[in-house]
Amino acid sequence: MAFLRGLACASVWAMAGVAVVVDAAVAADAAVLDVPTPYIPSTRGNVDEMLRLAGVTPRDIVYDLGSGDGRIVIAAARDYGARGVGIEFDAALVKESSEQARKAGLSERVEFRHSDVFAANLSDATVVTMYLLTSLVRKLEPKLLAELKPGTRIVAHDYGFAEWEPDHKVQISKNYMLYIVPSRVAGAWRVETPMTQGREFVLDLQQKYQVVRGGVRVAGGFLPAFEARLSGERLRFVLVENDVSYRFEGEVRGDVMEGVVRYGIGPNLNEQKWRAQRMDVPRL
Ligand SMILES: C[S@@+](CC[C@H](N)C(=O)[O-])C[C@H]1O[C@@H](n2cnc3c(N)ncnc32)[C@H](O)[C@@H]1O
Repeated sequence: MAFLRGLACASVWAMAGVAVVVDAAVAADAAVLDVPTPYIPSTRGNVDEMLRLAGVTPRDIVYDLGSGDGRIVIAAARDYGARGVGIEFDAALVKESSEQARKAGLSERVEFRHSDVFAANLSDATVVTMYLLTSLVRKLEPKLLAELKPGTRIVAHDYGFAEWEPDHKVQISKNYMLYIVPSRVAGAWRVETPMTQGREFVLDLQQKYQVVRGGVRVAGGFLPAFEARLSGERLRFVLVENDVSYRFEGEVRGDVMEGVVRYGIGPNLNEQKWRAQRMDVPRL
């Protein structure tokens, strides 16, 4: 127990941003062990970096998971005009958050729920913030991927996911990671484009989070998808046939992708619509 308490303590200091000399391996272990996430508030600067990295606007609903005294949700409403929800399992902190929101005149725009984050419904979030220990962040990953809409931005302060690489990362005194929930694109899609010309065009994609690979099966051949990028619902890739590059950009909406494809030589490219329909059950 003393060993565990020691590890928890190292994490607490690390979260507080206080310079302490701890063995790196011990600190790393502490971050992944099942140690409860303590209450260590983000500073005003930390809060602003998180909201800035998420690109919060008045159209957003910002959820802070483990919302402490409510400062992230209150700042999202006060400084960025968003609406917000705080989820916190410490009843005293929930009470304090609601009181702070009332004093700031923001009770109409923010809400604090006394709940475990695993029991909370997060599906209407457009932005999720978290300052939680790695063990909790890792456990939350499947819930976040299953519940959040594609395009939802997740910002993690200091502790990120195990295998999911951030879409963007900044280091400004502390580390902040931005993850954009990707659409599910893995599998086979029947494509109609100006390239198809009556041929069956099957776009076959493999996906690990936002990293996408694959290409098009056509008439016994294969056209690799170059420069494939997925950001939320937006997918782009380049196919090359007969030395002409076809630059696809589109949006994924469930079982349909739609967008424009540009092709030709020089700056004035031809532009036409393309569409793809899912042929199989989605996989991630
Ligand atoms: C490091 S503090 C961060 C507080 C606030 N988000 C901030 O950045 O200022 C983590 C908070 O998460 C809360 N917490 C930890 N595990 C939780 C869980 N499973 N459900 C809800 N809240 C949790 C803790 O009570 C604590 O208030």
